[in-house]
Amino acid sequence: MKLKSVLMAALISLSFLPTKADEGMWLPLLLGELNEAEMQAMGMRITAQDIYDANNSSIKDAIVHFGGFCTGEMISPEGLLLTNHHCGYGAIQSHSSVENDYLTDGYWAKNKGQELPNEGLYAMFIKYIVDVTDEVLQELPAGVSEEDREKLIQKIGEGFVEQETEGTHYGGYVRSFFNGNQFFMFITETFPDVRLVGAPPSSIGKYGADTDNWMWPRHTGDFSLFRVYMGPDGLPAEYSEDNVPYRPKHHLPISLKGYEPGDFSMVFGFPGRTQEYLPSVAIEQLTAEVNPARIELREEALAIMDKYMRADDEIRIQYASSFASIANYWKKWIGENTGLRESRAIERKRNAEADFRQKVSEMKNFKDEANIFAEYEKLYNKQLPYALARNYYVELGFRMLKTPGYALDWADVVNAKSGEDRDEAIAKLKADLDAHFKNYSELVEHDLWEKLVPFYASQVNDTYLAESLVALKGENMDAKISSMFYDSYITQPQKLKELLEGSPKKVAKKISKDPIYQLSMDMYSAYRSKVYGEYYGIEAELDLLHRRYMKALMAAFPDSTFYPDANSTLRVTYGQVKGFAPKDAVSYQHYTTMDGLVAKYVPGDYEFDLPKRMLELANERNYGQYANENGELPICFIAANHTTGGNSGSPALDADGNLIGLNFDRAWEGTMSDINYDVRRCRNIMVDARYILWTVDVFAGAGYLLDEMTLVRKPVEEPEEAVAE
Ligand code: ARG
Ligand code: GLU
Repeated sequence: MKLKSVLMAALISLSFLPTKADEGMWLPLLLGELNEAEMQAMGMRITAQDIYDANNSSIKDAIVHFGGFCTGEMISPEGLLLTNHHCGYGAIQSHSSVENDYLTDGYWAKNKGQELPNEGLYAMFIKYIVDVTDEVLQELPAGVSEEDREKLIQKIGEGFVEQETEGTHYGGYVRSFFNGNQFFMFITETFPDVRLVGAPPSSIGKYGADTDNWMWPRHTGDFSLFRVYMGPDGLPAEYSEDNVPYRPKHHLPISLKGYEPGDFSMVFGFPGRTQEYLPSVAIEQLTAEVNPARIELREEALAIMDKYMRADDEIRIQYASSFASIANYWKKWIGENTGLRESRAIERKRNAEADFRQKVSEMKNFKDEANIFAEYEKLYNKQLPYALARNYYVELGFRMLKTPGYALDWADVVNAKSGEDRDEAIAKLKADLDAHFKNYSELVEHDLWEKLVPFYASQVNDTYLAESLVALKGENMDAKISSMFYDSYITQPQKLKELLEGSPKKVAKKISKDPIYQLSMDMYSAYRSKVYGEYYGIEAELDLLHRRYMKALMAAFPDSTFYPDANSTLRVTYGQVKGFAPKDAVSYQHYTTMDGLVAKYVPGDYEFDLPKRMLELANERNYGQYANENGELPICFIAANHTTGGNSGSPALDADGNLIGLNFDRAWEGTMSDINYDVRRCRNIMVDARYILWTVDVFAGAGYLLDEMTLVRKPVEEPEEAVAE
């Protein structure tokens, strides 16, 4: 008994000891110093310099930030780019209509002339990275306030980048690491002409949709293909017919060799945000208050959208992206809460915090930090009501409802200083009218207003709400909102179009009295005046604590290797391909197969239907050259690689740096890895490269795309005589 509790305590306080493999998202330029030895001990056969080299071509030259929200990689010398289906989703949706439904049916360009341009989409490469910590700190005046510090760093960073890139077409940014204790500059090259080349039907690319999202075992072929174009002079250029395919300095060979459990694997990409050094009090609030609140609100919105999407194809296409993005984090937060509880994250943090207090109280320079958790608690408690009010408003006003943001645009008309300004603002809104209402259904928006706004008003304390909203509270609040919706112009495209036929003066007058315009503006001003300032004021105080805490932590445990939280910068994470056992008596294998995919098939279902051709090919076991040694077609696999949102589309590489898979998700049991990584339950999920190639080649008959790729096969065993010769 005694021994067991000693062991438990040892396990729980492991969190500040040197991180070993699996956990951590590492900066490519520091791999040689911090990670190479361990990576090679785990089986990697290449060097840190093969992965990142500022001067010669290296693997990093194949990695792009895809539109700033996902990762993509070069898989041919002609700029062919691989990313997830859900990353290309917005682009695929924008080319889709009820007649040409590429979301449902997929799309394969037969030649370069059929590759489809996407306004606003870009591919950004990292040229090189520089540690500018000393330079930034030198420029920062002593005693600068926390709020000014952030702005100043921003400005200093911009200056550095400008100086560094002068006379080139490069761009860049400086980002802060370890909560404002270190700074790195990233020099970038951005290509704005990125065209859609291929996408499987959603029944493959989104197989299992939201039921299977964040789940293992998984069978989703979550990939799509794009191509990066450049100007004829080799420089980045906006879309033009004269543009030619980009020629990357490196493209990833694709391996058909597969993997075994225990094999080394690494993921290279742009993880968005993690918070691995949060104090226990913050995790308590997140699990008890913040996550439940946002989960509940999203649940309400999803139910409404789902009802209409299932009934109407046009609405299904219009709301596909927005539904997917709301559903995604709704489900992630549920998994996160469960995972934090089951991994005993709060207890583990509390123990680590006790160790920390003990250590720093004996250190001359960090004595004050022994009290830091009391300070944390005070600030987090003070911030909580604002955090909740902010969350509700931002979710409702900027994510779920399309009109509050639109009302802000109309404010330019209502508040115009001159007739000229007013006319100009109206002209702009007129030009944007179709775009605003493209993915808009009155039926859906009406129900969202009618149900979510009363819900919001019931959940948030009146102190933080607009007075006009509070005045609507009561028994038939939903009926009142409903009639306001139908009395409004800005919620109804037809009515608004008719109004816009009239004189600008009349338009401005009508909108200024529009009930939904008024309510939207009131809600916005209440948020700005009663919530925003307080919330961010406390946030700045917290930032200072985070910075002090991190600095003290690194000083208190000098033998530990710390890794910085994700911040949308380029990182490498590595570990092993392996299954896991998340709970008593349950254990998962490391890969799935076509047999398992077909076993999930539900004819006609919107999540688990399959194309007839797929069923036929599976039935014939027509797996081409893509079967594994057991004659199965592998579909997805998992590894202990520490990833997060933004790592979607990142390549999974083997010990030789060849692509074996495409990262697209994490297993639900481990979604708390953003806050508390635990190798026993955290796994990232990848599509097997062989399934991707099978889909392109055998299923879609687009094998011509494989001609430009570099495929790596198992060495063929030569017959004895041939060797003897
Ligand atoms: N969970 C994955 C990620 O975080 C995939 C999301 C795709 N969206 C969806 N609702 N299925 O991005
Ligand atoms: N699907 C996520 C993305 O879009 C990656 C999964 C994760 O959060 O780990 O980046």
